[in-house]
Amino acid sequence: MENRDRGNQSVTELILLGFGNLPELQTLLFLVFLVIYIVTMARNILIAALVVADQHLHTPMYFFLGNLSCLETCYSSTVLPRMLASLLTGDRTISVSICITQFYFFSALVATECFLLSMMSYDRYLAICKPLHYAVLMNDRFCLQLTVGSWITGFLAMIIIIILMSQLIFCGPTEINSFFCDFIPVIKLSCSDLHVLKVVAFICSSVFSVIPFILTLTSYMCIIITILRIPSTTGKQKAFSTCSSHLIVVTIYYGTLIIAYMLPKTDTLRNLNKIFSVFYTVVTPLLNPLIYSLRNKEVKEALRKALGKCVAFARIMEM
Ligand SMILES: *[C@@H]1O[C@H](CO)[C@@H](O)[C@H](O)[C@H]1NC(C)=O
Repeated sequence: MENRDRGNQSVTELILLGFGNLPELQTLLFLVFLVIYIVTMARNILIAALVVADQHLHTPMYFFLGNLSCLETCYSSTVLPRMLASLLTGDRTISVSICITQFYFFSALVATECFLLSMMSYDRYLAICKPLHYAVLMNDRFCLQLTVGSWITGFLAMIIIIILMSQLIFCGPTEINSFFCDFIPVIKLSCSDLHVLKVVAFICSSVFSVIPFILTLTSYMCIIITILRIPSTTGKQKAFSTCSSHLIVVTIYYGTLIIAYMLPKTDTLRNLNKIFSVFYTVVTPLLNPLIYSLRNKEVKEALRKALGKCVAFARIMEM
């Protein structure tokens, strides 16, 4: 009862319930997520490094890809290390300030990803629907503005929400039914007035996810209409192959995000929700580089050359 005393006994530590109380599963989960984390980091860092190092990949499409890979290394790193530590040590407490910081980086990166994905689809739209003007429209300077703009907007946009969140008072219960500090599970625990925060969060999430989503959707509609108008089958296939992987990534990303946030929050669906959040926090950064880049001829070629150089360098060192 005294825990619920408002104001004078605010809680500074919360508990992340994670995947529940399954001691016999902790080690297995730890190993699985550790492997996922290592593979995600290795793949994404490899792609970002290739894009920076290889002259042939210095085009807007690959700059966007490189930036997306960078973003995904950060994204996994906001969620996974913390989760691995608590699976390993069994310590599930997290201080309120770290929890809010985690949510800040997580949400800023989600917003940046939405923007980057829409910039990438706009890039594909120009390449397929306006091929004659592509080089002029999507020049290096514009590409730089779009990427830098995405990062800045993402990180600035979430500051307002974080300022409001940092003023929340928690007075128990303290258990967050998730494996990271997500918005709704965290604010639900607060005993402050949530009116302003909820309105601001609603406006922000609409502006920063719906606008990029509509932009992406429109670009792909134009792309599909253009492709359908191409008379020859080989021409159709060629045009489609340059954007099919983008389409897969965008569909998976928005699909899981929409399902996770739109599903009614009933008890039975809550665990399903956890699975979906594993999907967009853990699985997409793992799969994206595979879908996007490692199937791509130019990236494979760059990788082969880079490996060749490493082998040559190793031989020189041996001599
Ligand atoms: C990100 O984009 C910028 C500008 O388009 C580019 O110069 C930079 O190399 C990209 N970063 C990576 C890691 O690809």
